[in-house]
Amino acid sequence: MKLLYICFILIILIISLYNGVEARFKTPIGKKIDRMIRDLHGEVPVFSNESLIFEQKVDHYDYFNNNTFKQRYIVVDDYFTGDGPIFFYLAGEAPMGFFGFQEVQVVNWAQDFGALFIVLEHRYYGESYPVDDLSTHNLKYLTSQQALSDAANFLSTYKQDNNLIDNQVVVFGCSYSGALSAWFRLKYPNLVVASVAPSGPVLAQLNYTGYYAQFSNSAQADCVAATQQATNEIMKLIANESGRKQLEKTFNSCHSLDDPRDQYYFLYSITDALGGSDQMNNPPTWILNSTCQMLLQNTNYVNNWAQIVNVGQTQCNDFRLKSFIEQLRDISINDNSDNRMWTYQTCVEFGYFSTAYPGTSVFPPVLNVEEQTKWCEEIYDIPGMTPNIDATNNYYGGQNIQGSNIMFTNGLLDPWHLLSVNEDNQAGTVKAVTYEAGHCGSLIATTNDDPISLTNARQEVLSFLKLVLSQ
Ligand SMILES: *[C@@H]1O[C@H](CO)[C@@H](O)[C@H](O)[C@H]1NC(C)=O
Ligand SMILES: *[C@@H]1O[C@H](CO)[C@@H](O)[C@H](O)[C@H]1NC(C)=O
Ligand SMILES: *[C@@H]1O[C@H](CO)[C@@H](O)[C@H](O)[C@H]1NC(C)=O
Ligand SMILES: *[C@@H]1O[C@H](CO)[C@@H](O)[C@H](O)[C@H]1NC(C)=O
Ligand SMILES: *[C@@H]1O[C@H](CO)[C@@H](O)[C@H](O)[C@H]1NC(C)=O
Repeated sequence: MKLLYICFILIILIISLYNGVEARFKTPIGKKIDRMIRDLHGEVPVFSNESLIFEQKVDHYDYFNNNTFKQRYIVVDDYFTGDGPIFFYLAGEAPMGFFGFQEVQVVNWAQDFGALFIVLEHRYYGESYPVDDLSTHNLKYLTSQQALSDAANFLSTYKQDNNLIDNQVVVFGCSYSGALSAWFRLKYPNLVVASVAPSGPVLAQLNYTGYYAQFSNSAQADCVAATQQATNEIMKLIANESGRKQLEKTFNSCHSLDDPRDQYYFLYSITDALGGSDQMNNPPTWILNSTCQMLLQNTNYVNNWAQIVNVGQTQCNDFRLKSFIEQLRDISINDNSDNRMWTYQTCVEFGYFSTAYPGTSVFPPVLNVEEQTKWCEEIYDIPGMTPNIDATNNYYGGQNIQGSNIMFTNGLLDPWHLLSVNEDNQAGTVKAVTYEAGHCGSLIATTNDDPISLTNARQEVLSFLKLVLSQ
């Protein structure tokens, strides 16, 4: 019984440490957990063994470049009535199918509406690479604009080729691809009648202090206070050599923490493990609660924090910044490439660097944005590299996104809701629904433990779909 309980807590914590690939710079701890999550969710991804190939343009904005690449997609026609709508799901910053658990409700709705369900893999992820290696120069076609143009070219070609010209299309996504979904309706209103955009961070932000600030609103007061106390203690310990030795031991570090940049990376990694656990706080696991339970199991909070970091780790932790940067500099295409790809997208377009300063959160108040911007330079060998935040927000409109028939859904316990849209706009053309749970909660499988606000949110999406499809 006790063993079962420990296994249960372990699994919950593994999930809790998974903050979505989107979660800023991915630490090796986070990466290892990604792989485990992929296995955990292995059965959920739908139909990914039946993927098809679309010959896609490499560069939609260069008339003189006619090169193409193979982009994967999936078509599920099990529920399609022939004159029903098309539910077009944009996959995000991972192989198509990785986020299958976030498509569950869309498939349900496809059933309700007799819809054709199509998933398109994002360029530079999974098996949809337009280039042979991932050297920095080769990443120039990795932009959200190219991805939207992929979707437009794919959709219009597919409809033509399959005699579906008159079928209405609704676009979906979640997280980064939730933002893409909203932007697709904004930029291509002629191709889709509406967008459902769960947990889409449409506001690009360099210095994202909100990510860790949210923890203080999402977690119970005792958990927040314990975290603050542990942070204070860790900051004292890290300041001198004997304290550092103690931290190295407690957090099972493979190396000394004497180098100031390794200290930053160490603090960054352990903050990620605890401070990001509100993001995926969804039923039935409610992983923020179980993480806090672990932190509060006794009053040795620093020790307990280390336990949270070490869940699922069989070896010592490599907290050297150098190792982290080296992994992201790997230009070969392999199972870890999505980290190099997503990091590039943040370094170029979105920022989203999770930072902590005195008074902004209960986490080490030394996680400044300058250091993380420097990582961009070092990973991609571009001196002075910094994201074009203003250009991104000028282009898409940030939280003041225009357009119509766009519905955002957001979990109020998820930090990403801070960069999304949480209120209807004045004209009522952009709708927002919120609920008391975490990231992408509105699209995952229904459970007996769903709060009423989450059930209502799904109901509102359903009503929205009925409305836009009857227009
Ligand atoms: C895909 O997997 C499903 C379930 O395992 C199986 O029923 C189906 O035949 C497979 N399809 C192809 C094309 O392999
Ligand atoms: C690109 O392909 C199109 C269609 O095949 C062709 O008409 C056009 O001339 C090509 N452009 C260039 C620059 O090769
Ligand atoms: C980042 O935000 C913190 C807290 O608001 C602020 O003190 C700091 O100056 C900001 N840094 C930059 C570069 O904007
Ligand atoms: C190092 O820091 C610890 C924790 O703050 C403290 O107890 C200890 O006295 C310090 N040692 C030295 C040599 O400053
Ligand atoms: C989370 O824990 C708090 C107290 O520790 C409790 O009040 C709350 O109901 C829990 N939430 C869930 C969803 O289990």
